[in-house]
Parts: sequence; C-alpha cells; structure tokens
Amino acid sequence: MNRKRILSGMRPTGKLHLGHLVGTLENWMVLQSEYECFFMVADWHALMGEYEHPEKLSEFAVDNVIDWLSVGIDPDKSHIFIQSEIPAHLELSMIFSCLTPLGWLERCPTYKEQLREVKTRDLSTYAFLGYPVLQAADILLYKAENVPVGEDQLPHLELTREIGRRFNGMYKKEIFPDPKALLTSTPRLPGLDGRKMSKSYNNTINISDSQDEIMNKVRMMITDPQRIKLSDPGHPDICTVFSYYSSFIPSLKSSARDWCENAGIGCTECKKRLAAGLIEKLSPFHATREHLIKDPSTIRMILDRGRDRASAVASATMAEVKKTMGISV
Ligand code: TRP
Ligand code: SF4
Repeated sequence: MNRKRILSGMRPTGKLHLGHLVGTLENWMVLQSEYECFFMVADWHALMGEYEHPEKLSEFAVDNVIDWLSVGIDPDKSHIFIQSEIPAHLELSMIFSCLTPLGWLERCPTYKEQLREVKTRDLSTYAFLGYPVLQAADILLYKAENVPVGEDQLPHLELTREIGRRFNGMYKKEIFPDPKALLTSTPRLPGLDGRKMSKSYNNTINISDSQDEIMNKVRMMITDPQRIKLSDPGHPDICTVFSYYSSFIPSLKSSARDWCENAGIGCTECKKRLAAGLIEKLSPFHATREHLIKDPSTIRMILDRGRDRASAVASATMAEVKKTMGISV
C-alpha cells in the first residue's frame, strides 16, 4: 500500500451538522479511496477552548465518530482515532514548542481573531497560544503530505510547514515533509437564519436530527423576503432554502428555480419538499446510527484499531525524532 497520506481532525465540541457534512465529511469520503487517511477527533484541541466545561467532550467525541461512520467514513479504508489516546501528540508538541518562536504564535491571525471575538471564554492561556504547535505535531507525526481543511485553517498549515522546516534545518535531517492543504471547494452552507451554519449561532440542522426536528427547522428557514404572496416571483439565488436544494437535492435544483421564479408553488410547499428531500437523504445515515448506538463494542473496536495503527506510525516518527536530536527521553 503506497498511497499518499492524509491527516485531518475535528474538535468534538458539539453535534455535527449539515455544514460538517457538505464542508468536510463528503470530502473525506472521496479522499479515503485515494489516500491513506488518518481521521482524528481532536479532543486536546477542544479542551483548549472548553476547559471550563470539559465534561461533555468525551460524549461528543464518540457521538462525532458515530456520525462519521454513519455517513460513510469507512474504518476498513481509514484510520479513525482519538488524539488523546496517543500521547506522542503531546510529546512532539512539547519538542516543537521548544523551537517555535513566540512571535510566530502571537502573530497568527486565527489566534488574534479568536482572542478578539470570543467573549464567552477566556482564551488568553498558555495552551491556546500553542494551539497551532499541537496541530503541527498532529500532522507531522504522521508525515502527512496532504491536509484537507477549510480556508480558516490555512495559517495553521503555514505554521506547520515553518515548524517542520525549522526542525529539519536545525537538526540537519529531512524528517518532515511540507504538508499541503487540500482546500474544500464547497461553498459555506448557510444556517437557518442565512448566516454561516454554526453551533454558536444556534442555526444548525444536525446530521442526527429527527424527522420532526428537520421539518420544524426547515419551516423556520428564512426565504426571499420579497416573496410575500404566492403570486410574487421569487429570487432563488438569495434564498437559503434554494441553496439547500443545490447542496442536497441537486436533481430538483432546476425545478426549484423554475417554480420559485415563476411563482409556481409557494414557499411553504417549497420548504415541505426540501424537508422531504433532506429526510430521504439523511435516513440511511440515521439507520446506521441507530445500529451503531446499540453496539458500543464495535465502536470501541474501530477506535482501538485506529489507535493501534496511528500509534505504530507515531512511535516510529518519535524514535526518528529523538535519534536525530540525540535525546533519549
Ligand atoms: N484546528 C482544526 C479545526 O478546528 C482541527 C484540527 C486539529 C486539525 N488538528 C488538526 C485539522 C490537524 C487538520 C489537521 O478545524
Ligand atoms: Fe425560497 Fe422556495 Fe420560496 Fe423560492 S419558493 S423564495 S426558493 S422558499
């Protein structure tokens, strides 16, 4: 097996929603047949933000893995594991922190932005400043050549490359590759209110939402405000409902444009059809999910296998790292 290696991760901070499905998971699904994929639950990264209330992290970790599996991430193709089950992530992160200048971290745009924007938690901590150092360790521990991420993660990838190069240069050995981002091309999925779908805006449809929840949430979605009466022609390109047709029921996209622009059916009916389409799309996932929830030992077995494979690669890298540095801790 000589496939190129990929590593990606998600922080287990809540239930996964349709934004994760179209933005990340559908992409992972395609990649897993072409690359050797390591998909990681980044629970240490989640802890950096949620340290005041960490008690739900392990529940979300397992819940997220169930979503991954139910939408089609295949444990026979991909290695699925939990970051905190592999201590080498912290070990390499510690080593990297020795050679990462403070200025690189203080200048990181995501760090500055989060400190400025996030008001509900105190992120001015030692660990949070080092967030990208741990992320560099995640990636370089597996010598991943590609990292599928959204645009928001590009500064972290840039730091990963800089840290890897600095290590290679300092100890005069090309241990680490220059990992490249595989940018997700999918446009951001709007939430129910038209803003970006995000747990913190409370505007999500979750992958695991029941049929009733889906119907209620779709009913609440904002539409073209100029379409008041049934006879008013609508503007699908500014309507959140229409963008869901594009992402989830592409087979109905052109009919939806047609009935909207020509005032063929009303918004209520348009939403009913969307809800029905979403339910149809998600119901196979729900069936798998129900199955998995009743079978925790299978999930544990999948995570054990992922951990063992990841651990083998991680240990080999750590041995190489220590030998190159001439340390034996
Ligand atoms: N920081 C990433 C995010 O919030 C999660 C993450 C942690 C990650 N480690 C990673 C992503 C390694 C890619 C590779 O989305
Ligand atoms: Fe939006 Fe559908 Fe109403 Fe058009 S008909 S404005 S696409 S909800």
